[in-house]
Amino acid sequence: KVYQASTTAPVNIAVVKYWGKRDPKLNLPTNSSLSVTLSQSDLRTHTTAACSSTFGPEDTLLLNSSPQDVSGARTQACFRELRTLRSALEASNASLPKLASLPLRIVSENNFPTAAGLASSAAGFAALVRAIANLYELPSSPTELSRIARQGSGSACRSLFGGYVAWEMGANEDGSDSVAVEVAPASHWPTMRALILVVSAEKKGVSSTSGMQITVATSELSKHRFAVVVPKHMEAMKKAIQEKDFETFGKVTMVESNSFHATCLDTFPPIFYMNDVSKAAIRAVEDINTRAGKIIAAYTFDAGPNAVIYYEEENTDAVAGAVKGVLGELDGWEGKEVKVQDTKAIDAKAVQALKDGVSRVILTSVGEGPIRTQDS
Ligand code: DP6
Repeated sequence: KVYQASTTAPVNIAVVKYWGKRDPKLNLPTNSSLSVTLSQSDLRTHTTAACSSTFGPEDTLLLNSSPQDVSGARTQACFRELRTLRSALEASNASLPKLASLPLRIVSENNFPTAAGLASSAAGFAALVRAIANLYELPSSPTELSRIARQGSGSACRSLFGGYVAWEMGANEDGSDSVAVEVAPASHWPTMRALILVVSAEKKGVSSTSGMQITVATSELSKHRFAVVVPKHMEAMKKAIQEKDFETFGKVTMVESNSFHATCLDTFPPIFYMNDVSKAAIRAVEDINTRAGKIIAAYTFDAGPNAVIYYEEENTDAVAGAVKGVLGELDGWEGKEVKVQDTKAIDAKAVQALKDGVSRVILTSVGEGPIRTQDS
């Protein structure tokens, strides 16, 4: 007999950034972070977890049809924690099938190109943990599962929820209180939109896993960021989301991204994730906001050159339309209603850099958390 369960899980893009580990083994962060979960119609991982005595003897994982190494400490930690929870369930209920001891077969597919430099590990580990929890019929809450997903990849813990999600850094040495919590569901502020500008990078930069450890080891500036800047931003961001105050949300998002990239520059040797195309995206957002006379668009950048621009639905034409005016027809606009704006307001050099450097766009919105799908 083969037991199986499936789920989807979303991508999230942080507006208060996780950048630093206080315990690399348990993946405990130096600061809390906060993200917006993006819609799964545009970006998601679909994962099926199965187990059977006919499989084996090894656990296996296929991602987009190619076999992945599951022997790494991160994947092993997730498997071990989930098996421990299932074993406890089996011990308390003798009628349950003994699944914890069976080999696992995991099959994952992304609906977006893995190579695009999008945060795929977040959706990947969230889906892996949620799928196995479904298979094992664990009664665990998303917050309990986030503690496990965190050990796969830090940002993954935030993809167990939809909407607006905080990862509270916690204080316990064993990481038991370093978990994700919902700040507000997507329905609270459903008009949030995200426009992703996919920038072709020549070579892969420093991975976030190693980059953030070098930052903690060498950057003086990061100490100030952890102690003063992030706590202030977490508080301001939660309030802005409660009040659906886009001007504050946008301001904090941009200052946060800049603070994170400043600590990257303060790392030794320095780490550069933004390139000239990223800088042109910043300029374009500034010019769009200047034309509007207030903050209607906010940029943020992760560990790569792609820009994510947040805005509210009512400003689709003023923000996405202005960017479309710059970029012209490109993969990603099809099926999305965006009225093209003139580019007069945007710096001519920025226009040229964006035209040359952006290879496609993804226009999406705030969305829901993992969704259980047909168990096949
Ligand atoms: C810049 O979650 O990929 O996207 O825990 O080592 O897997 P690991 O790191 P990861 O780092 C994400 C860094 C970031 C900011 C963020 O998502 O908060």
